[in-house]
This record gives sequence, C-alpha cells and structure tokens, in this order.
Amino acid sequence: MGKRALKIGQISDPHIGEDESLVQGIDVRKNFLEAYNSESMKDLDLLVLSGDLANEDAEPGAYSYIANLLKDSKVPVCVISGNHDNVEVMGQFFDLDGKIHDGECYYRYDIDGRSMFFLDSTNGTVSGKQLAWLESEASKVEGEILLFVHHPPCYCGHKFMDMKYSMKNIEEVQATLSRIKNLKYIFVGHYHFETEIEIGNQIVYVTPSTQMQIDPNQSVFCLSSAAPGWRVIEWGENFLETKVYFSHTP
Ligand SMILES: [Fe+2]
Repeated sequence: MGKRALKIGQISDPHIGEDESLVQGIDVRKNFLEAYNSESMKDLDLLVLSGDLANEDAEPGAYSYIANLLKDSKVPVCVISGNHDNVEVMGQFFDLDGKIHDGECYYRYDIDGRSMFFLDSTNGTVSGKQLAWLESEASKVEGEILLFVHHPPCYCGHKFMDMKYSMKNIEEVQATLSRIKNLKYIFVGHYHFETEIEIGNQIVYVTPSTQMQIDPNQSVFCLSSAAPGWRVIEWGENFLETKVYFSHTP
C-alpha cells in the first residue's frame, strides 16, 4: 500500500512589523491572515514559514505575533530564516531546540517516514557545513526528499532580485544539489513573485510573498501587487502537485 499524500502549506516573506503599523502602506498582518485562514490551507499536514517573517531586522513583535497566532494550531510548523530574520531571536518564540548549529538553523523533519530538509540562508549563502550535512543526511533517506530554503539556488528571471539580492554562492550550492539524486523539488521564497525554474533534474518553485509582489520585468524596485500569495503542495509517493494562490482583495 502506498503512503498517503502529505498536504503542505507554504507561507513566505510575510514581513511582519514590530507592531500593527502598515508596512509600505500594506496591512501585512491582514495579508498573512488571508493566507493562513484560506480555505486552500485547510487540513494541512505541515505549515512551512519560509523566511523573512520579520519585516526589516528580526523585530521580536513579528515573531511574537506569528507564534501567538499558531500556538493553538495542531498543524506542525517548520520555520526557516530569511535575510531579515535572526535565528537567535526567532528561537525565543519558536521551538528551534536542537536545530541551531553554530548560529545557523537547519534541520530535517519527518512525517510518516517521509523526509523534508530546511536550510538557513540568512546571510545570502548556504554554508559549506550545511551543504555537507544535507548531502550526507539525504543519502540516508531511501525515498524522495523535499528541500526548503529562503533564497533560490539559481537566477530566476527577475531583473531586480537577480541583480541585487540573489543567492551569493549559487554555483557551490547547485554543485551539491545536483549530486543528491533523491531530491527533485526545492521550495523557496525571497523573490516576491511566482515562478518555476529547472536546474538540471531539479525544479525550484519560487513562492510569492504574503506581503507584496515585486515586478520581475523592472530593474529597479517596483511593486506589482499588494495581494498576498502562498503555495499549497500535495506530495505523494510518485507525484507532486503544487498550486499558488493569490488573494483577490489586495
Ligand atoms: Fe528575503
């Protein structure tokens, strides 16, 4: 008998501020709630928050707001850190026990014998230490794995983000990823837009932000929409389906 499919929700880049003030004129808390309370996010097996939970500089109010919202949920939550986060501060609000190694938060999380990996790209790179750990841990898993990390390990056809904020050690990261044969699907955020990029035999799914979207066709920062977006993933033994949703009420 095949194992049942897992349903995973991914919320990325909510950029919650210290308090309820609007962020760049956007009610980011309302946007976060739209994603979190969406019909599409019902009956999850796992919720992933893929970085930039805080707006600018690891505001504790951002983490306390999200942690409070999630505290009564029965759905497990995997949190990763983005370039506006700080794992020490995050660890005061989320259970990161055993997940922080030398200041970096990376770990494996299993559900029903299926393994997902979470990396830390807070400083714009994935360290060699994490890459070695990922390659070694992934080789211990028999079936397919999933990988979540904040920065895309590739250029994404987004003029502004590719030029200014892409991952800094793409080549090194791709060299490791290409050797991990049981890894096909990689989920990221950071770019504030939606796309899919093939790198070798792997697909990088870029998930939009719940804060706002950035126009990929402009080389300067240009807001394309203040509507929140999020992703739902159905991961079965021999298939993966994923869909991005946008709110209609920006
Ligand atoms: Fe980011």
